[in-house]
Amino acid sequence: MTADRPFFVTTPIYYVNDTPHLGHAYPTVAADVLARFMRLDGRRVKFLTGTDEHGQKVERSAQALGLTPLQFADRVSAAFREMDRLLDISYDDYIRTTEERHVRGVQALWQELERRGEIYLGRFAGWYCVRDEAFYDESELVDGKAPTGAEVEWLEEENYFFRLSAWQDRLLAFYEANPDAIAPRSRRNEVISFVRSGLNDLSISRTSFSWGIPVPGSPEHVVYVWLDALANYITALGYPDTENAEFSSFWSSVLHIVGKDIVRFHAVYWPAFLMAAGLEPPCRIFAHGWWTVEGEKMSKSLGNGIPPDVLVERYGADPARYFLLRELPFGSDGDFSHRAVVGRLNGDLANDFGNLAQRVLVMINRNCNASVPEPGELQTADTSLLGGARGLLDIVRGHISEQSFHLALEAIWRVVGEANRYVDEQAPWALSRSDPARMRTVLYTLGETLRRLALLVQPFVPGAARKLLDQLSVSETARDFAALADAPLVPGTRLPKPEAIFPRFVEEAAR
Ligand code: MSP
Repeated sequence: MTADRPFFVTTPIYYVNDTPHLGHAYPTVAADVLARFMRLDGRRVKFLTGTDEHGQKVERSAQALGLTPLQFADRVSAAFREMDRLLDISYDDYIRTTEERHVRGVQALWQELERRGEIYLGRFAGWYCVRDEAFYDESELVDGKAPTGAEVEWLEEENYFFRLSAWQDRLLAFYEANPDAIAPRSRRNEVISFVRSGLNDLSISRTSFSWGIPVPGSPEHVVYVWLDALANYITALGYPDTENAEFSSFWSSVLHIVGKDIVRFHAVYWPAFLMAAGLEPPCRIFAHGWWTVEGEKMSKSLGNGIPPDVLVERYGADPARYFLLRELPFGSDGDFSHRAVVGRLNGDLANDFGNLAQRVLVMINRNCNASVPEPGELQTADTSLLGGARGLLDIVRGHISEQSFHLALEAIWRVVGEANRYVDEQAPWALSRSDPARMRTVLYTLGETLRRLALLVQPFVPGAARKLLDQLSVSETARDFAALADAPLVPGTRLPKPEAIFPRFVEEAAR
């Protein structure tokens, strides 16, 4: 049904002036789950991530370390790739804004905007915030600072401007015609009221520093870092060549995963730049919430950012991924605490799912010659459990299409709970003496339910799912979602020795 439909998912590209932490892992893990889900669902996927390497902040950070900006960017960009490796991230393309393909594409985009009369030279005088790389209106300042709390500086220079003000009505028409283009709804409303309140033209070049992409024809200007960065989503598809296979199949299906702090750039400036260049605006932008850590805002000065290696060493990649997506609705803010992670790890993962798998596999190993048992006639309890597991795909697909990861996981774990209740009710250990044929049917039902669950949890906890599918001797070619209905366990198949898929977190050993 969904075969061949392209799906393009992106993360924000990360500033290299900060080292990776939990807040960066979050959108990356979310995008990875979507990419994995869609691939398993038969769709053609491109998953793009990368690093945002230009701008005054990077120039200043490099200087402070006595490095060239590129040496500095090389170092931090590598740390982001390492984050991806640790968290089992299956990106298809990793773009760096210092790459030739990107620089060429941004310059072409600039020229296209210029050719269409969307850019003019003017004089900028106003507040600029280097930390946010954003311009602020006097009226937006709070106690002389940016609304984000960062310092602002007065800037006066000759700049090129983009005629953003001319796009107000067309942006509003775009939001109106595409009610799902910005999610969640609260963010959409926020964007619409911002645009309704009137748009100023946007300064899109800078002359007071040089670490950026030179403006074509005016090399004393560099391109504003947000125009540069946003363009990664199309330069990675080969822009300015919009006829190539990648661009023509993927652009119209793009989903941008972004944090709530960068919605304005993605939902206002970006569609305006695109439309002004004669391109389609993005299909959908989802803005997730922000994490605090143990009740505190994450900050460099508090040093509470939780780097990915600490996250993965302490809890493991799968539990970290699971926690991030299960704990909160994707659009909401929430708190990351050690206690909450351990609660989920030992509860949902080790007790509920891990124990279920372990109990079933050990019973099959002991009582059925370590082979998939031959079922007899199925009873209502069996068909109802199996039906619940099969029906999950549609339910999960629905939640995933709305980026409701926590609801998808809740639905899967509901069946995990049903399977645990079924084990208790059917008591296969007692049947081994009283009714071995019925025991085989019960264990087959459980094994097959586990197979279906393992297939469905692959996008979220790929390592554990792989282990479980290996233990069920599911072949590599029967691991996509089509196999849910098409490739049930075959009685008589040998199964390897069971091993725990989600070990419990033991406090003393890890801290
Ligand atoms: N470089 C820009 C994005 C350009 S995209 C064309 C940028 N980079 S960033 O590294 O500062 O932030 C990247 C993402 O990390 C943002 O979407 C932001 O929301 C997210 N997070 C940073 N800290 C976070 C939390 N504490 N919690 C959740 N996400 C957070 O912005």
